[in-house]
Amino acid sequence: MKLVISIGGSILLSELSAENFRKYAKVLKELSTDHQLVVVVGGGKIARDYISVSRELGANETMSDLIGIEVTRLNARLLISSLGEIAYPEPLKDYTEIPRVLSMEKVAVMGGIAPGQTTDAVAAIAAEYINADLLVNATSVDGVYTSDPRVDRSAKKIERMSAEDLVRVVMKSEMKAGARAVIDPLAAKIIERSKIRTIVIDGRNPENLKKIFGDHGGTEIVG
Ligand code: UTP
Repeated sequence: MKLVISIGGSILLSELSAENFRKYAKVLKELSTDHQLVVVVGGGKIARDYISVSRELGANETMSDLIGIEVTRLNARLLISSLGEIAYPEPLKDYTEIPRVLSMEKVAVMGGIAPGQTTDAVAAIAAEYINADLLVNATSVDGVYTSDPRVDRSAKKIERMSAEDLVRVVMKSEMKAGARAVIDPLAAKIIERSKIRTIVIDGRNPENLKKIFGDHGGTEIVG
């Protein structure tokens, strides 16, 4: 199967440590024995720290996004290092490079691509472009909620939802460099237009990535 896995920086970089990267690399290596993998890496707190300093210095949103992209690519390089031989050695900067890398039987690792979006959108576009069988969004919550569970105690987890409903839920989120929503609105629109089979799972425990074909406990988005 062709899998695109988006690993939020908030989980991969919950702390900047070799051990954390090793844990995710181990599971990704296992998945890569049976599947073609594209892994998209987020920016995490480090990206947000850079973005807040760039804003303080007067940078506009595009400039701040470009700084965020650089950080996601640095993180992608660390994941590449932890994957070793099985990964293509450079973070991809263009979707059109993905098929060539997969045909070399290497794991393709990407960070950000363009201002005005997050790595969720990169993962959705990559999945659309290669006709992926499954898009996995591994994040710091255990699924899509009716509203943000970090601020709203009455928020309820949705186990199964349509892409149209996903768009409705995430359109409420703000669009700024470093913004945090469970899935960014552009990603949701891409998922909707191409009916990409998508799951949102709790990625805080890397072992959950092994459950993507079974009882993963997250949210299933169906066409
Ligand atoms: P992400 O928001 O994707 O990082 O990128 P993240 O840490 O995974 O987010 P969580 O884990 O969901 O919280 C960090 C920042 O980089 C810029 C944006 O400013 C984004 O907020 N970025 C990233 C882009 O401008 N374009 C991209 O394609 C990717």
